[in-house]
Amino acid sequence: MLVHFVTDEPAKIPAIRAMLEPRYYVVPQLLGDGKAQISSNGVLMVDADLRQMVRVEQIRLVMREMCRIPERLFVVKNEVRSMVAQAHALGATAVVSRPREIIFKLEQIAVAQKIAQGDLPDVSPEISDSAAAFASMFAAIQAGRPINLLDAEHATSQVIKSIAENGLCSWLEDVRHYHEGTFQHCLLVTGVAVGFAIDIGFTGPDVKRLGLAATLHDIGKARIPLAILDKPGRLDPDEDEIMRRHPAIGYDLLKDIPDISPEILDGVRHHHEYLDGSGYPDALTAPQISDLVRLLTIADIFAALIESRPYRPAMPRQNAYQLLCGMQGKLEPSLVRAFRKVALGVPTPARSRTLQKL
Ligand SMILES: [Fe+2]
Ligand SMILES: [Fe+2]
Repeated sequence: MLVHFVTDEPAKIPAIRAMLEPRYYVVPQLLGDGKAQISSNGVLMVDADLRQMVRVEQIRLVMREMCRIPERLFVVKNEVRSMVAQAHALGATAVVSRPREIIFKLEQIAVAQKIAQGDLPDVSPEISDSAAAFASMFAAIQAGRPINLLDAEHATSQVIKSIAENGLCSWLEDVRHYHEGTFQHCLLVTGVAVGFAIDIGFTGPDVKRLGLAATLHDIGKARIPLAILDKPGRLDPDEDEIMRRHPAIGYDLLKDIPDISPEILDGVRHHHEYLDGSGYPDALTAPQISDLVRLLTIADIFAALIESRPYRPAMPRQNAYQLLCGMQGKLEPSLVRAFRKVALGVPTPARSRTLQKL
């Protein structure tokens, strides 16, 4: 989605690019430089000093040129009431003050535009909310800001709510409809992990713990170059070596957050470890791999197999489960057996009992 970024400070342009790209394509425009742009696509985003009448007049001209853009986002620091009123008087459709709000609003607009263009049914609020939380976390990392754990907790609670109300199948279908790449993967892994935890009778706090570990498990990918992350095809050995750094990067990004639990850090760092010691980054063996990590690894592999990518179709769930069964020595056999019902989409009485407790 195009974001026409209009500002009065040149220094804000690289900052907004660092925050939004590559998810959005930023087209900057400096107020008063005489180069007017005309567009009717994407979102108009204005971040300028509305106390200065000269700026207000310049913005008015821009608004005239961009009058066909339906979404006009104004950034007003601290939401000063008079400035919010000025923004609306200039034609703002939304006023935001913090980077997190900007990301959330853009994600909502992007999904709404996708629905409008693709004639798709309305996406559930839980999916757009959790996707916005993922976008906020990835943008924070890319801009060098700390991760807000509340984003991860919010995304996890939205996944749990959706699966408790509508089931895992509906979550998997909707996510594959509306999201791509790393976001799709993270939303799917969290959904599969939560569905698995509910199915095997985890208590509410344990479902949340596994869900949060799943939400954060690939957060280190925010530091992996997109050329590698989104490469359509097999990675070469050098690229693979870089990709394999993401669990340790994720661990480093999270380890100093005051309220993060050791189980979550363990899940993030070790979700690519195998019981036979052939995994990475620490080549752990069975006694060193916790139950949470064993569950997370199964959810991660299964979700990766059933993802749809532009260059390959999603693997049917039956085939993906067969592949898991063939990974002897690497995955916990009793858990793989217990995962069968979730993988194949068979609801069980245990699941409905646990849902009542969430
Ligand atoms: Fe991973
Ligand atoms: Fe993953």
